[in-house]
Amino acid sequence: MKAINNNSLRLSDVSKEVTLYGWVSKKRDLGGVCFIDLRDRSGIVQLVAREGEVYDIASGLKSESVLKVVGVVSERESKNPNLDTGDVEVELTSIDVLNSSLDLPFEIVDDTTALEDTRLKYRYLDIRRNPIKNNLIIRHKIMMAVRKFLDREEFIEVETPVLCKSTPEGARDYLVPSRVNKGKFYALPQSPQIFKQLLMVGGVERYFQIAKCFRDEDLRSDRQPEFTQIDLEMSFVEEEDVMSLTEKLIANIFKEVKGIDISLPIRRMKYDDAIKYYGSDKPDLRFDMKIHDVKDIFKNSTFQVFLNAMDEDSSVVCIKVDGMSHEFSRKKIDSLTEFVKTYKVKGLPYVKYENNEFVSGISKFLSDSEKEQLIDLFHLVDGDLLFFGADKNSVVYTALGALRLKLGRDLELIDDSKYALCWVVEFPSFEWSEEEGRYLACHHPFTAPLDSDVSKLLTDKAHCYSKAYDIVINGYEAGGGSIRIHDEKVQEKMFQALELSDDDVREKFGFFVDALKYGTPPHGGLALGLDRLTMILSGTDNIRDVIAFPKTTSASCLMSDCPSKVSESQLEDLAIKTVE
Ligand code: AMO
Repeated sequence: MKAINNNSLRLSDVSKEVTLYGWVSKKRDLGGVCFIDLRDRSGIVQLVAREGEVYDIASGLKSESVLKVVGVVSERESKNPNLDTGDVEVELTSIDVLNSSLDLPFEIVDDTTALEDTRLKYRYLDIRRNPIKNNLIIRHKIMMAVRKFLDREEFIEVETPVLCKSTPEGARDYLVPSRVNKGKFYALPQSPQIFKQLLMVGGVERYFQIAKCFRDEDLRSDRQPEFTQIDLEMSFVEEEDVMSLTEKLIANIFKEVKGIDISLPIRRMKYDDAIKYYGSDKPDLRFDMKIHDVKDIFKNSTFQVFLNAMDEDSSVVCIKVDGMSHEFSRKKIDSLTEFVKTYKVKGLPYVKYENNEFVSGISKFLSDSEKEQLIDLFHLVDGDLLFFGADKNSVVYTALGALRLKLGRDLELIDDSKYALCWVVEFPSFEWSEEEGRYLACHHPFTAPLDSDVSKLLTDKAHCYSKAYDIVINGYEAGGGSIRIHDEKVQEKMFQALELSDDDVREKFGFFVDALKYGTPPHGGLALGLDRLTMILSGTDNIRDVIAFPKTTSASCLMSDCPSKVSESQLEDLAIKTVE
């Protein structure tokens, strides 16, 4: 059996005979002497084959052949500071070729130029590359840190079903047809939410699970149809208890996996403030550039666009770019205007402040008093640039939030070595769905409203806030949870508020509502996205880089070619007919 150890050879091993296994990463044949970089999971060590039989075998080796070699460790003449084993090499006495490899579709190197589709088709080769392999190791370390920490905190890991009842609220379900019960379907869980709450009814008190979840939704660079949650639930707790436990868990993960100290407690921000200052419920706090409300300054504006935004449902808001006005050509501002228009605002008014004067953009519309107030509010200095949004509240904050993030990235204002964590708390209970013409649960229908807002469930949905919290890291929603409704009467009101009929509730959640009647403890919990945490800790912005066998944005696996057609007889067994 092989040990995972090629990378451990050092000068102290000189003169030792070693048996090594691994893949041929590189070969340099100098005629009479051949150098091979032998790679295993731990790293690379240089082998030397000099003359005779070992040289003959070595010089004929193909890349990625699998070897067993025996040799003696010696000190290298020219050392390689880029390798952990760079002080030594292994003088081969025998080479055993355990297997060969076809020509590779791409080179196994850290900085690959191979297309992602090719890498996904040959994912098993991609995993041989350090960037992917190291991400899988980080993912493993996170899972180990989680299990150790939660075990110490007296959580027990319980598995919940993967074949579940379909209760679509939120994303679309993945469905699985039942052969035994023809015409009926299971759904794959979007999360173990209902089951973990039932475990609290079951008296488990502290549950966790590293759980696979499935959501048939539009995919993005931080979303997969099949992803993993670090899911937990606790009984007899308030928001503070879940948040403080989670903070300790996250601090523990950062320490164990990256040796980074996170200072606790993590700052908290109300949802309304996150939107008001950052235009997002997942603000990236690694840089400042807050959104300012400037409606009052422009009450008597001569600029019609600002005047049009004076009603209650609209705002005039502004962000400042420090000292870079010269970098913003007309063309660049036009392209930023097109960018914000995709967020449904009508335009992007701006002014530059150069040589103590407001120039270009809408400067001609500014009165002296407005100019003074802007200078005071933003402490304007030469080269500052102000971008404005004047539109409906429902679009203007999101648009300027997106612009803020784009500017942060484009102007390299974001320090990638920083981790900025924050809790976003007091989410609204409901969000209005234009598509469905009704209020939907902002989080899920089991989230408790604030004690002060229970009475608003049926009377004032727009102003009903909940005991929900999200943990945001570097602008990613890394996790979210809430205190749940444990009182069946409040749960009933919530279903009413969501305009679910009694029949609907009975059909979808009957078993759950019944369970609430049997002595349900107050409880709450949260789920962290394991994939997103791994992305953050491995510094990639592509979720596919942290999943061993990911799906593409069209939810398919290029390696196994799934989803795929199935045979007629399989469909017959399931009593299913497909429509072309
Ligand atoms: P939520 O839907 O917020 O909460 O999910 C929790 C966390 O899971 C991650 N996540 C995803 N990661 C990758 N791909 C996806 N498609 C995806 N969807 C979500 C995010 C998110 O913060 N049951 C509740 C939790 C609770 O209330 O306890 C839930 O699922 O990081």
